[in-house]
Amino acid sequence: MRILVIGGTWFLGKSIAEQALARGWDVSTFNRGRSGADVEGVQPIHGDRTVREDLERLAGHGPWDAVVDTSSSDFAPRDVLLSTTALRPAARRWVHISTVSVYEGWPHQPLTDDSALLQCPPDSDESYGYTGEDGSPTTYGFQKAGGERAVTEAFGNAAVFLRPGVILGQGEYVGRLPWWLNRAARGGRIVAPAPAGQRIQPVDVRDVAAFALDQAAASTSGGFNVTHPEGITFGEFLGACLEVADSTGRPVWVAPEVLEEQGVKQWTELPLWRTHAGVWSVDSSRAVAAGLRCRPVLETVRDTWAWLARDGRPVDHPRWAEHGIAEEKEAKVLASL
Ligand SMILES: NC(=O)c1ccc[n+]([C@@H]2O[C@H](COP(=O)([O-])OP(=O)(O)OC[C@H]3O[C@@H](n4cnc5c(N)ncnc54)[C@H](OP(=O)(O)O)[C@@H]3O)[C@@H](O)[C@H]2O)c1
Repeated sequence: MRILVIGGTWFLGKSIAEQALARGWDVSTFNRGRSGADVEGVQPIHGDRTVREDLERLAGHGPWDAVVDTSSSDFAPRDVLLSTTALRPAARRWVHISTVSVYEGWPHQPLTDDSALLQCPPDSDESYGYTGEDGSPTTYGFQKAGGERAVTEAFGNAAVFLRPGVILGQGEYVGRLPWWLNRAARGGRIVAPAPAGQRIQPVDVRDVAAFALDQAAASTSGGFNVTHPEGITFGEFLGACLEVADSTGRPVWVAPEVLEEQGVKQWTELPLWRTHAGVWSVDSSRAVAAGLRCRPVLETVRDTWAWLARDGRPVDHPRWAEHGIAEEKEAKVLASL
């Protein structure tokens, strides 16, 4: 197999490049050379996916059996269209990393692979879409839905869309699991979002990467939700963070109404906490039938702690600072109980 990874130096793209090499594949990566280092063993090609001339030069390095696009999170549909149109003659297939945010019903309703998508034209610019008052839908969701359409425009049935919920693991720069691990390590009474039995569905970055490569070599088409089929309860998750960090910290499970009264922000101040009914009800059975294998979340927690202890975080990223509740605010919540 000969593949091109757009991105390829950072979190998911890096894991895809590393695993493709481990499979004995011929791997090219394309990025600007700003985030992270090129993975040893790939053929690195540097350029900007929003610049037509760079894409034409890139196409000259083909042909590839598949392109895996990991880098579309900050790009308008029309930018994705520029890449898919330029690379169509050079690639047999396109594996697009999308998101569950493309669904109209996310995060309010349970979702399947056939749920309705947000509507966004494939040639839209970054202004298309809006974010609702309660955080749904999101401009990001509209833009990613338009990105999917831009891929379909060029690749038709030779395209697949992987729609992960939350990705955790080694190299995570958003700061969700790292925050919980560091908070656990600090010990003391830890504000935790009740109920402890709430099931969450994060997937390990390595499992998303392996599935992306399986799909690069397959002849499937359409969308696949990529969420953990069994998941883990919040209580087990936090218990695992305490255990790997060898902490005597003690979770204090606080009702959502109290957290809201205290102004605790969902998703960021307490990462992975969100009360909308559909957020952790995303069915991934199509992906499981096609070979998605998710390791137990406990393994992700353990390996992320080992990575933090070894390497810290890859580079500074603004999203890291958005995550986690301030010590004083947490103390205020505890005092209010
Ligand atoms: N994290 C999650 O929980 C989550 C959940 C659902 C879906 N997703 C999706 O997963 C995908 C992967 O996310 P990620 O965080 O690993 O990567 P990312 O931040 O979306 O992409 C970063 C990679 O793209 C390259 N890149 C950025 N701008 C570029 C440009 N103009 N031209 C060429 N390359 C460019 C970067 O290298 P340079 O900066 O050096 O160019 C880097 O290698 C995204 O599509 C995201 O929407 C993530």
